[in-house]
Amino acid sequence: MITMTYSAPAKINLSLDILRKRKDGFHDMRMVMQTITLHDTLILHPHCGGGRITLSCGGAQVPCGEENLAWKAAQLFFEETDTPCDGLEMELRKRIPVSAGMAGGSADAAVVLKALRGLYRPSLPREELERIALKVGSDVPFCVRGGTVLAEGRGEQMTSLARMPRCPVVLCKPGFGISTPELFGRVTVSRLKTHPDTRGLVKAIALGDLRMAAGKLGNVFEEVLPQEYGEVFEIRDRLLGAGALNAGMTGSGPTVFALFDDETRAKGAYEALAKDYSETYLEKIL
Ligand code: C5P
Repeated sequence: MITMTYSAPAKINLSLDILRKRKDGFHDMRMVMQTITLHDTLILHPHCGGGRITLSCGGAQVPCGEENLAWKAAQLFFEETDTPCDGLEMELRKRIPVSAGMAGGSADAAVVLKALRGLYRPSLPREELERIALKVGSDVPFCVRGGTVLAEGRGEQMTSLARMPRCPVVLCKPGFGISTPELFGRVTVSRLKTHPDTRGLVKAIALGDLRMAAGKLGNVFEEVLPQEYGEVFEIRDRLLGAGALNAGMTGSGPTVFALFDDETRAKGAYEALAKDYSETYLEKIL
């Protein structure tokens, strides 16, 4: 049996802005997305006969059937590229928290698409893979591309930026999950009081200026977060108090991330938060 192993890295939103609600129910976004070192691992057994796709998730709290984005990605890949499936066993080892704003499911889907392209259709253009990715979910095209990206539209209109400096990142997820569609439902674009300075952020990244970039973090979802999720802001304040350059929520939350310019301070912040939150991580910009 052939065994292939791949890494599926999570993302954070250095900025997240919502520009308008569209007629198709989705929202037009403007986001700077960033790959980080926190990752799931995908183990594939391709060409294993029988023509079926199977997925196991080793006891993680995620659905392992056809509703799992990794499974959906594999099925769409075979369909959309007219490739006969000659049996595919997939195993996911989850480390990225679920419903956390870190695109865990999208990262898994993206790595499946990239792996299957490598195995079955190496000449498939990147644009075509990103088109299939958008059918799986709004964050999947970014996860296919990775790096530091300005993402617009639903997230599929991507401009790759210069890499962010490889600084330490502390992430901390409170013990609840937030539903993305529910949070989108709370947004009335005309009533948003502030929008992140994405242009300024893009400029700071181009300059390679970590401190300036950290000063430009922003996420409009923080403004519409229901009161019962106030712990998000408590975590943010603790990270700032521990010497972060800046901190904010990623995606639709509830994970809070903080950027540091100093390894020791980052480790101190991680250790302080990890005492109270089991889902605390000390990682890096990838
Ligand atoms: O594309 P994805 O399946 O991740 O989207 C989940 C839900 O989030 C959508 O059904 C929609 O309610 C909301 N969404 C949105 N605008 C986006 C992305 C997601 O309204 N750009």
